[in-house]
Amino acid sequence: MGEEAYPCRKRAVLLLLAIYYGLLLSEFQITYGWTDQGMCTGSATGDEWPCTDYKLSSKLLIKGGTVVNAESQQVADVYIEDGIIVLVQPNIKVADEVHVLDATGRYVMPGGIDPHTHLEMPFMGQETIDDFFTGQAAALAGGTTMHIDFVIPTNGNLAHGFEVYAKKAEKSCMDYGFHVAVTSWNEDVARDMEMLVKEKGINSFKFFMAYKGALMVNDEQLLQGLKKCKSLGALAQVHAENGEAVAEGQSKMINLGITGPEGHALSRPPLLEGEATARAIRFAKFVNTPLYVVHVMSIDALDEIVSARRSGQRVIGEPVVSGLVLDDSKLWDPDFNIAAQYVMSPPIRSSGHHKALQAALSTGLLQLVGTDHCPFNSTQKQAGLNDFRNIPNGVNGIEERMHLVWDVMVNSGQISVMDYVRITSTACARIFNIYPRKGAILPNSDADIIILNPNATFQINAKSHHSKIDTNVYEGWIGKGKVEVTISRGRVVWQHEKLMVERGSGQYISMPPFGSLFDGIDKMDSEYLSSLRAPVHRENSHVAES
Ligand code: URP
Ligand code: ZN
Ligand code: ZN
Repeated sequence: MGEEAYPCRKRAVLLLLAIYYGLLLSEFQITYGWTDQGMCTGSATGDEWPCTDYKLSSKLLIKGGTVVNAESQQVADVYIEDGIIVLVQPNIKVADEVHVLDATGRYVMPGGIDPHTHLEMPFMGQETIDDFFTGQAAALAGGTTMHIDFVIPTNGNLAHGFEVYAKKAEKSCMDYGFHVAVTSWNEDVARDMEMLVKEKGINSFKFFMAYKGALMVNDEQLLQGLKKCKSLGALAQVHAENGEAVAEGQSKMINLGITGPEGHALSRPPLLEGEATARAIRFAKFVNTPLYVVHVMSIDALDEIVSARRSGQRVIGEPVVSGLVLDDSKLWDPDFNIAAQYVMSPPIRSSGHHKALQAALSTGLLQLVGTDHCPFNSTQKQAGLNDFRNIPNGVNGIEERMHLVWDVMVNSGQISVMDYVRITSTACARIFNIYPRKGAILPNSDADIIILNPNATFQINAKSHHSKIDTNVYEGWIGKGKVEVTISRGRVVWQHEKLMVERGSGQYISMPPFGSLFDGIDKMDSEYLSSLRAPVHRENSHVAES
């Protein structure tokens, strides 16, 4: 029937009703991320995944699973109210209105915390393809419930860079924190570092020793930065590669006519990673401040970290999942589009390195696993078709880390399930001073939880993953141990292969300075000062001066 058939008053009433229901519907879509096609969107940009209705209950009981923390495990129930864990004990009885999840035969563990991601990152003339919504949705589908991203300063300005990232992160659907990169040095940078620590919840700063002419700092800047970090109780992080030598290595490859992705690996060999790691470690020792080495990719870097730790120095080593499970063979693939996917820095190394990194992780020589999720799609990677130096560096991993670490480390028998919790979640929470709010299944902790079925199979491929990247460096991987449920702040956000995410629901997690890595640093400094036997008071010094 045509609209004209309605008399005027009827039309007005209908219009009002339509507006009313329209408002109701849009409220529903915004709050519950649900479209009439049965897709989760939560976004005005049309990002969609199949999903079911949102779990409305603010009370949740996870029943009968094996609850695993970094230091203990037991068969128990977990009771959650309003996003917080209330009770962890066997046989909890609850009222009928409480939503119950049966976890029998499954592991109930803290959600993963990824210490190293780059969402919406401007880099090498491109921007990473996952934003704070799509990247986090992908993370949740893979069992990660918090990540720490790197703020890139705006033309060297840290405070402005932080504001830009805070804005980008408003669309978050899971909790997140920030490290801030320091890419230059002057009084403004030092002042902003202080402001960010004291007012904005930042407790770590990253220094790039590579990417000459872009993000790289020199030795003098690194030393100043380390001193400032120490005074603020903030953890200094380094991307450890010798950027000067890398630039030289790149020219060498181009002069040899090696312009493809293999040139990337050949131009920045492990020894350059080892050298920079050693240099950063010695600077940190000189300043007496803790150091965190991001994306440890080689035995050369590993050896430096191990020997520093053996001498008592506080150095944290973070391997990333690509370095742990892949080797460099794909960089030699004749198809540029395949080879370019694997370009990241430091490069994925020849086989042997990843086995050594796994062994170090299993014995505690390395402490936690990140991803360095920095996704560029095929079109973006094409920028370096004729010159590997222009291929934007980075691979995916935010969605795959929890499954791959389980498959490669737990299924192989290299680590226990408790160790798994430690290296994927608890260690990160401790290092960045947010434990036990995060990284634990304990009363009063945030209810960020995964339920993993050790007997179920997972498969990785670009067609079914949730990240926006059109390729996947783990394409075709089939393994055992599947995250069946992800709970973010007490809400079921992933179940039955469906995402139920809400744009804007993620919260910024402030990270206080002076975490436990700083305990006793002041005593060591006093000891050092009293050991100097200086200045020597010489009788004749006054005479000599005058
Ligand atoms: O290739 C990488 N790693 N891209 C991200 C930037 C960085 O160095 O972490
Ligand atoms: Zn880096
Ligand atoms: Zn990175």
